[in-house]
Amino acid sequence: GSEANVQQQQQQQQQQQQSPGALGNDEDRGGGSRGLEGQDPEKDDPVHLKRRVGLVSGVALIVGTMIGSGIFVSPSGLLIRTGSVGMSFVVWTGCGLLSLCGALAYAELGTMNTSSGAEYAYFMDAFGAPPAFLFSWVSTLVLKPSQMAIICLSFAQYAVEAFAAECDPPQEIVKLVALLAIVLILLVNCYSVNLATGVQNAFTAGKLFAILVIVAGGSYKLVQGNTQHLHNVFESVEETTDGVAKTVFNVGKLATAFYTGLWAYDGWNNLNYVTEEIKDPSRNLPRSIMIGIPLVTLCYALINVSYLAVMSPLEMIDSEAVAVTFGNRILGLMAWLMPVSVAVSTFGSANGTLFAAGRLCFAASREGHLMDCLSYVHVRRFTPAPGLIFHSLVAGAMVLSGSIDSLIDFFSFTAWIFYGGAMLALLVMRRTRPDHPRPYRCPIVIPVLVLLISIYLIVAPIIDKPQIEYLYAAAFIAAGMLFYLPFVKYRYVPKFMEGVNVFLQMLLEVAPTAAAFD
Ligand code: ARG
Repeated sequence: GSEANVQQQQQQQQQQQQSPGALGNDEDRGGGSRGLEGQDPEKDDPVHLKRRVGLVSGVALIVGTMIGSGIFVSPSGLLIRTGSVGMSFVVWTGCGLLSLCGALAYAELGTMNTSSGAEYAYFMDAFGAPPAFLFSWVSTLVLKPSQMAIICLSFAQYAVEAFAAECDPPQEIVKLVALLAIVLILLVNCYSVNLATGVQNAFTAGKLFAILVIVAGGSYKLVQGNTQHLHNVFESVEETTDGVAKTVFNVGKLATAFYTGLWAYDGWNNLNYVTEEIKDPSRNLPRSIMIGIPLVTLCYALINVSYLAVMSPLEMIDSEAVAVTFGNRILGLMAWLMPVSVAVSTFGSANGTLFAAGRLCFAASREGHLMDCLSYVHVRRFTPAPGLIFHSLVAGAMVLSGSIDSLIDFFSFTAWIFYGGAMLALLVMRRTRPDHPRPYRCPIVIPVLVLLISIYLIVAPIIDKPQIEYLYAAAFIAAGMLFYLPFVKYRYVPKFMEGVNVFLQMLLEVAPTAAAFD
């Protein structure tokens, strides 16, 4: 075990010296360092995929990631946080525009540096290794697991709701089901890569079906004349109840409403993680973004209108699972269809999120940014089992300790620090590398605007209502630096890690990639 390890590290270093990388300093990212020297990496390495993502699959990759749990869970929360139907529409649309602008800036970054890894790659180019390390540290330990936890909790909410009719199911049961979902998805992903992608495709269909049913049902009701909830939309929902606030114009409060909305749109940068696999990226990356994100924004607007064609804003706020209430109102005997297809949709998103997380964990540890053992793959199944297990454990802990809403705030706060960072990276590179080819150049106002908004999104919630979660997130990012110096920069490996590595290899039947392919 440890011999193969050393060998792998040596190869890694050689690779770093050999490949100049897209911008000259992004050595250890690209296709290399898998311990496959002298072999054709395209043929043997399961992680190095060919360029097979065209325009259609590019759009599908964006749309499929963005549409997950949010649109089935967030509309109620957004209504509570904005206080009126009109304001919630403003925020929904604003989130779509913000995602589109962010993604256009990412299109410039992604066509400039065509190696996979999104933020990681851009931080490396613009700011150097430490910020890039911090990104991989936070995304493996916080961002990906919290995504997984939120989606699985939403899955559980719908799966349980299907049996609980219109009353509130106990939280313990929801959490238990969420944990079961994590375990099941973990097993699928450890079992085989093909099974995981198969599940992904089948479940994406379930998601599109759910959306189609909602929009069709809503349109039917609208045509029948059920438009009463769409008049006077800026009227506060409060008149009829005491619990809900008036239309919120307070900018601090609106920031958390944006968190809720932006969760539903998260994934707009997803294509940038796989740039190496896109055919003709300088054309297809910007195009997929320009088609995919407006498409999702349109779907979300239609779905929100459909919900309101069937229930009042108050009923929407009271409903734990809007899509279920929707189904109960208009699908009659087929009402069970709604929770089932939403559960299918969320299960699929969770599967895709773990799939990507395993890959990220695998790549970051392979580059010496996380523990070696996390980069091992199963000797026969070629799945990155240790990374997957690790993510699932962290996600499980988050499920136990948080609620959907608190996790979404925690996630969005942390994510927008890095999205803002990427905007800064773009602006910095316009100065430091003015002559580097930019096949797609986005208008400079876009990154400036998104940067300002992300500063607002990070600062406003802290001022408005300081939550301990924000402190955790900030402390966690800072803690990354404590690890960076000894373990990454100076490559210090504590003695006991050797033992842990060997033990894990035997327990899980995993090995460093070099050995796995010998
Ligand atoms: N927007 C998705 C949802 O509403 C979540 C996407 C999570 N992000 C990701 N990159 N997988 O559930």
